[in-house]
Amino acid sequence: MSETVSTFEPVEQLSDEEVALIEHECAHLPDRQSAAIDAMMIVQKHRGWVSDASLAAIGRLLGMSTAALDAIATFYNRIFRQPVGRHVVMVCDSVSCFIMGADGLARDIQKHLGVGYGETTPDGRFTLLPIVCLGACDKAPTMLVDEELIENVRAEDLDAILGRFE
Ligand code: FES
Repeated sequence: MSETVSTFEPVEQLSDEEVALIEHECAHLPDRQSAAIDAMMIVQKHRGWVSDASLAAIGRLLGMSTAALDAIATFYNRIFRQPVGRHVVMVCDSVSCFIMGADGLARDIQKHLGVGYGETTPDGRFTLLPIVCLGACDKAPTMLVDEELIENVRAEDLDAILGRFE
């Protein structure tokens, strides 16, 4: 007897709250596509990251292709297309921070966390990523932990800084 293999894939739905928040953004913009980044950030805030299925759901709501949204997400490095830890540590690697020792700082953070760029600690607490200029060049080197900008980062402060994020 042959077995029938279903090719049906469940369609992911956005929650009522996500849809309401995205529609709120759309109401302030000239067209629905302009809400693409906000929509992805809203979904990310609720789900931790933006999966392919979430991207498709956002696309249906905004009238955009998944490919177009994916291109925007790839360009905008605050949108996570893979699962991340409870906290995301992003170390600025642009020129002012580089001059002020960002390279060494990145090595210190990697040693402190025991993971490299693009990796998540085994306990799921931190994901480490590089990021371009955070706009605080006069306070270099800088890093971002979730939404918190941390300036003038010194290796000796890492314990105290990261210890605040459980
Ligand atoms: S170069 Fe790091 S904040 Fe601008």
